[in-house]
Amino acid sequence: MTQVRLLVNWLMGLAWFAVSGRPGFFARLRLGSRAFRAYLGLRKQSASSFTEQLILLNSVLNLDPAVPGDIAEFGCYKGAASAILSIGAEATGRRLVVFDSFEGLPEPSEAVHGIADKKAIGYRKGMYAGRQEEVRSNLERFGSINSTIFVKGFFSETLPLRPAGERYALIFEDADLVSSVRDVLRYAWPRLNSGCPFFSHEAHDLEVCGIFFDRDFWEANMSCPAPGLVGSGFGVPATIGNFNDFRIGPVPGRTGSYLAYVFKPVVADYVGVTDQTGADQTNGVNLSPVRGA
Ligand SMILES: C[S@@+](CC[C@H](N)C(=O)[O-])C[C@H]1O[C@@H](n2cnc3c(N)ncnc32)[C@H](O)[C@@H]1O
Repeated sequence: MTQVRLLVNWLMGLAWFAVSGRPGFFARLRLGSRAFRAYLGLRKQSASSFTEQLILLNSVLNLDPAVPGDIAEFGCYKGAASAILSIGAEATGRRLVVFDSFEGLPEPSEAVHGIADKKAIGYRKGMYAGRQEEVRSNLERFGSINSTIFVKGFFSETLPLRPAGERYALIFEDADLVSSVRDVLRYAWPRLNSGCPFFSHEAHDLEVCGIFFDRDFWEANMSCPAPGLVGSGFGVPATIGNFNDFRIGPVPGRTGSYLAYVFKPVVADYVGVTDQTGADQTNGVNLSPVRGA
């Protein structure tokens, strides 16, 4: 019975995906089938569900082609979501930049609790380790390795060294720990183009969701107001009816997901933008305008 429910959920997800925008129904059917094959091949090594991956792929395909920038993924494990993102990157002529230690989680500096059950989540150093060669081989088999580059190391060490002009059109963060997500936001948010989406896979994690509402953190590090996070506590709907292909825990309704998102607020031009208090919203980084850069 569970298998039938799963199958129905996947097929309904694919049907939704096929009619959800660029590059058209038949091209989407082909991309959806490729994504499904990747999901089935990597399912046992995946920390994200197929419907969540379809939402990510849909968002990549529907990015405004006039907005430049890479797709950036923070936290890939064995590369299951990377494979799907790379398919989207290839289809849109973008590059996927995969950031990971390839050694698993660093030592957690503070506990993370589930929003619904208030229990501490047992994150440990070294958890979710996927070697770079494993991820590469998974992308060679199921994704688009030619559209992908890997950046190995802890975010706090690798992100500050990225080329000054590197910009992102979509970010997918699945790094679990408070310190890791803070690092992603501190260094990668300024590189996300205005109006573009930032996805987090921590919709059920109290302390991680809290970062997106932490005024002091945003004002101190990004000189801008906290943007919030759509889907905190429940996740964006990623299943249809009661069909659920992952265990969400004691969450009412069972139609949510682990995905949450926020779009970077649109400003006329990043260069020299100040907020109402006169503080520089660019945090001193001279970012190019969104279009035609
Ligand atoms: C939950 S897994 C990602 C799962 C993956 N998105 C999927 O769909 O299968 C978390 C990943 O984040 C990485 N990670 C967490 N914190 C990190 C940090 N500070 N620097 C580099 N990698 C980090 C871990 O190595 C691990 O691969």
